[in-house]
Amino acid sequence: EIQRRKAEFETVGMEAVKSGKVAAVLLAGGMGTRLGVDGPKGAYDIGLTKPLYIFEQQMKNLLEVVKECGVIVPLYIMTSDKNHEQTTSFWKEHDYFGYPETEVKFFKQDMAPAVDYNGKIYLERKDTPALSPNGNGGWFASLKRAGLCEDLKEKGVEWLNIYAVDNVLQRIADPVFVGATIASGVNCGAKVITKNNPYEKVGVLCLDGEQPDIIEYYELTDEMANEKDADGNLAYGFGAIMNYLFRLSKLEEIVDKRIPVHIVEKKIECVGEDGVARKPEKENGKKFETLAVDLIKPMGSVLPFEVVREKEFAPIKNKTGVDSVESARELLKQNGVQL
Ligand code: UTP
Repeated sequence: EIQRRKAEFETVGMEAVKSGKVAAVLLAGGMGTRLGVDGPKGAYDIGLTKPLYIFEQQMKNLLEVVKECGVIVPLYIMTSDKNHEQTTSFWKEHDYFGYPETEVKFFKQDMAPAVDYNGKIYLERKDTPALSPNGNGGWFASLKRAGLCEDLKEKGVEWLNIYAVDNVLQRIADPVFVGATIASGVNCGAKVITKNNPYEKVGVLCLDGEQPDIIEYYELTDEMANEKDADGNLAYGFGAIMNYLFRLSKLEEIVDKRIPVHIVEKKIECVGEDGVARKPEKENGKKFETLAVDLIKPMGSVLPFEVVREKEFAPIKNKTGVDSVESARELLKQNGVQL
């Protein structure tokens, strides 16, 4: 269907981007504990012969659309208390990667405490809980609280394209995706790929009764992961790649709705009872996170939009192995990016 109606979708999407109806929102408040670098993940240099920062590569992708459509797509970047200063100064230092400074706005997400396996709250100092970013689910509420909704409306924005910092092949404000979502009359679109194995670490798109929903990989049971549909394909075979298009008016309607809090095992920096700071080597407790994927259900309708994984999905979660700096470099090379 996407192939068949590509030209039509592209025309609709280009028109929306050209008339300023689409803004981009980069979710970059995470700590990137698996990659294990200090500072913002987007500031990580994946270059080999010259520096190439994750932020930079993503901006190159966005600038292609900007060039094609002849308009700047306003960009909003979510940070957290843990990386805000570093992120904003990094962007300034690099001249906003070719973007006008006025079109890049930063806002901070909320933080939450974390606990050890006995439920005891980790401390940052002897009398202060260790706070971590509370997941990416509160991105719209935080954007609104920062007063940026007025900004969006003044600009005439109607659609927000949110995306994760860790995919260096991320297509942002992709006209075909934008057009397909608008033409389908739904409240949101989600880019998906066919999973390469039942346990691939991506959230899967499915239906909960009539309602669209996404189940995170760590909450998928063995049975569900391996379940087959009538055609012998994985029943939960479509993974979301954290690239969504949301209708702004619907987001405003649902902003106060409660979304679930997920419990995730992570490495949590803290002070021990001896008052000495600890940087754990492996998971040592649980964090509480809300997830952007949980907005899909309250949005009420979603268009799953399948993309070619080799062209659009190069996640960097780890240093080596699966979904790593190494695998992402390979994929970038395949797509003609010079490292
Ligand atoms: P992940 O959960 O994969 O990344 O977030 P993380 O938390 O940075 O990394 P690990 O799990 O500790 O290794 C996916 C996307 O959501 C953003 C991240 O920055 C990334 O773009 N995110 C995550 C936030 O913006 N805020 C959060 O609290 C968590």
